[in-house]
Amino acid sequence: MKITVIGAGSTYTPELVKGIMDISSEVKVDELILYDLEESEEKLETIYQFSKRLVKDLFKVVKPKNLIDALQGADYVIFQFRVGFLKARENDEKIPLRYNLIGQETTGMGGFSCALRTFPVIEKYIELVDKYSKATVINFTNPSGHITEFVMNYIGFERFIGLCNIPVNLLHMISQVTGYPPKDIFVKYYGLNHLTFLEKVYLKNEDATEKLLETVKLELANIPKEDFPGWLIECLKMYPNSYLRYYLMEKKMLKKIKKEGTRAEKVISIEKQLLELYKTGDKIPDQLSQRGGSMYSTAAAYLIRDLHLSNGSVHILNTRNNGAISNLPDDYVLEIPCMVKAGKVFPTSLGIADEFASGLIHIVKMYERITIDAYLKKSKNLALKAMLLHPLGPDVEDAPKLLEDILNANKDFIKLE
Ligand code: NAD
Ligand code: G6P
Ligand code: MN
Repeated sequence: MKITVIGAGSTYTPELVKGIMDISSEVKVDELILYDLEESEEKLETIYQFSKRLVKDLFKVVKPKNLIDALQGADYVIFQFRVGFLKARENDEKIPLRYNLIGQETTGMGGFSCALRTFPVIEKYIELVDKYSKATVINFTNPSGHITEFVMNYIGFERFIGLCNIPVNLLHMISQVTGYPPKDIFVKYYGLNHLTFLEKVYLKNEDATEKLLETVKLELANIPKEDFPGWLIECLKMYPNSYLRYYLMEKKMLKKIKKEGTRAEKVISIEKQLLELYKTGDKIPDQLSQRGGSMYSTAAAYLIRDLHLSNGSVHILNTRNNGAISNLPDDYVLEIPCMVKAGKVFPTSLGIADEFASGLIHIVKMYERITIDAYLKKSKNLALKAMLLHPLGPDVEDAPKLLEDILNANKDFIKLE
């Protein structure tokens, strides 16, 4: 099996390498291809040498000659690139703050500029993946769910799966609280990526929802700590995704972001430390857990294993609803539990979505689609329309100025008229 990583200079890559080492006793991994841009050659070289020290002779770790060499004949392609590097993320986080709006990598107006910057690059890579391979693409590039909506419903490329580390972390946390292994846990969990709801928890044959909903708690290293009030869970009867703090506790979160500084600035410093440790180390340093994406490699590696083995196991993935949530349209890309079989993913039937959840899902899905249209039609008016619809977006007074600020900061990437 040939697995190709696009954006392999990421300091997350060693975790992914470890995940692939773990599955290599069950599926035959021949080559792991680490591709990145010329600009990141120094970083890539450090990651490549460190990865070779980790892998030893379990499989080949390769730095390809060029992009075509990287993609040719690949079985799985993992997207984990960040268009515009961390500097662009810093802008995404800082610009909305000037308007007293949440500035965040994937959520609200930060996620909006990140999406517009990323669509054209995704489009180019999908064309090349399709031309040079029969690979399934596993996408982490954020905003992961929005990108999956774009690829499946607008480019029409089907071998694409959007992933996030939150679902595996959630199952892991439930497993730790209950003592049940993740394979014995099934959840009614649905929504858009970073906008999901946990509505039911089944442990083997038992419906453990009541017992667990008030006990579960998921913290991510990248989100400022702020618990949901207990009454909120009782009122919603669902456990919201950690990113819903930005929607449900907007004022508090805004204050925290302003006080603590941007996550991009913190990540730039964590990245420096990690690269130094990778230069000489031969095991994954604990400092990697300071990043928010922990366990993303578990999600990717075990998905690759199970796609390959066609073993009917369940993974929480971003793909088209296809009837899984009966009161949401079939073509909405959602993050939902799916059975993995015959190299494909089949969403499991979950019944109806709660009205609070579906209300928010519809609005943000329409925001996603108008944003995609804005990119495809190069339209400022559609971009403004999307911004105004987003629950964390600007009002009529600020929207045009905010859009101009975003366009100015992203001149090389986003072109709207
Ligand atoms: P990073 O800034 O380290 O970027 C990774 C690499 O992408 C860099 O080495 C960079 O050179 C490369 N890159 C930039 N533009 C590229 C292009 N056009 N083609 C190929 N490579 C390019 O970022 P990171 O922190 O490692 O994260 C990478 C991406 O993965 C981000 O979008 C991040 O949000 C996402 N991520 C998502 C999840 C998830 O849950 N979905 C988890 C972890 C990371
Ligand atoms: C979470 C999210 C990812 C996101 C990451 C950011 O885990 O699920 O989608 O990319 O955090 O972490 P960072 O360390 O880059 O802030
Ligand atoms: Mn995520």
